[in-house]
This record gives sequence, structure tokens and C-alpha cells, in this order.
Amino acid sequence: MTTIKACLFDLDGVIVDTAVYHYKAWKQLANSLGFDFTEHQNEQLKGVSRVRSLELILGWGGVTKTSEEQEVLATQKNTQYVEMISHMKPDEILPGAKEFVQACRDAGLKTALGSASKNSMMILEKIGMVDLFDAIIDGNKVSKAKPDPEVFLKGAEAVGVLPEECVVFEDAIAGIEAAIAGGMKSVGIGSHDLLGEADLVISGLHEMTLEKLRAL
Ligand code: BG6
Ligand code: MG
Repeated sequence: MTTIKACLFDLDGVIVDTAVYHYKAWKQLANSLGFDFTEHQNEQLKGVSRVRSLELILGWGGVTKTSEEQEVLATQKNTQYVEMISHMKPDEILPGAKEFVQACRDAGLKTALGSASKNSMMILEKIGMVDLFDAIIDGNKVSKAKPDPEVFLKGAEAVGVLPEECVVFEDAIAGIEAAIAGGMKSVGIGSHDLLGEADLVISGLHEMTLEKLRAL
């Protein structure tokens, strides 16, 4: 059995419920273009980069835009999203998230953030969790989006731990696939139906313990 030495956490939907804000901002954009998409379709956007999310959404609406127009639309969505998250407070940390990250640190494990979001730092500052991570790998530091394992491999490297000694916590299908592709253990945050490929699925970090981590 491999000993776990580091925990790598996704941000949106694992530490904070910003997935809701992403959904609202994308929905408003789609509606302004004259179409809508479902919550089920939205699952495919979780963990996926801003640019790729827009491509998927435009595809669902059957709308074609030039790359210049796409850039304008992505910026429009981000402006709306940033306005939503600018009001975030520490009370928006998901139940048990801060406590579990702290418990990992107290147990001598390394902790890293592995998020596709270019707004990660702003969110961590708003909720007061910057200092709880030994490394922060976000959308500004990666060139390949999940399900590519780059974000987690960089996190493992930054904290000096081998991939097989890492556990990834993820709410996105693409994120679990990235963990598997990187040779890491994974814990899905959400429903078993969606995240069944993970080694363990829990509804939130409030359900996670160091005992469950060691049993992975
Ligand atoms: C991920 C979210 O964490 O970050 C995605 O799950 C989002 O929904 C992606 O598209 C990029 O975020 P941002 O903040 O850089 O637009
Ligand atoms: Mg997520």
C-alpha cells in the first residue's frame, strides 16, 4: 500500500460553491444569445477552462462566433462572474473544507490547490485560505485543461511528492479523469452516478476523515 503524502484540492465545488456562480454567469450569457442549457449540460462545464466552456455552450446553442467575438463573450462572462465572487466571504467555504485541509496539514501532509480557474487567488483571498496551501496551481499556470493531468502533476511536483502518493479531491468528471490520468488516487465530491470512477465518493469534505484517506 502506498502512503499518502499530499492532498490536492480542486477549488470550485470542493472548497467553495462557486460552481453555482459559474453556472449563473454562463446561463445569462447563453440567454443573451437567445438560447438556454440545462443543469445536466452544466456538469460538462465543471473543471473545464473558460475558453473550452464557451465553445461547448456555443455548440449547444448552434451559434457560430469568430475567435475575436468569442474573446469578447468570455470576457463578458468573466466580468459578471468576478462581480459575483467579489462579495464572497469566509462563510461561503463549503462545510468541513477548511477543517479537513487544516487536518491534513496538522497530520504532516502537503496540501496544494489544483484549479482551472484564473480567479483562484482572488477567491482564496476572499475566503482567507491562501496560507492553507503549500502550492497553488491555477489556470494561469497550466496550458492543458483537465482531463489532462498537468494541473495535478504540477501540484505534486511543487510539493515534492510522487503522483502515486497524492489524493485529488474533485467535483468534476474531467477532474477525476485528470487524477486517474496522472496516476493519483481520487475522491469525488458529489453524486456517485456522475463520479463513480473515483476511488471514493462523498457529498462534501465534511464527510472526509484522515482514516478514510489512509484507507484509500
Ligand atoms: C473551474 C470551473 O474550476 O474553473 C469551471 O469548474 C471554470 O467551471 C474554470 O470554467 C475556469 O474558471 P475561470 O474563473 O478562470 O473562468
Ligand atoms: Mg470543481
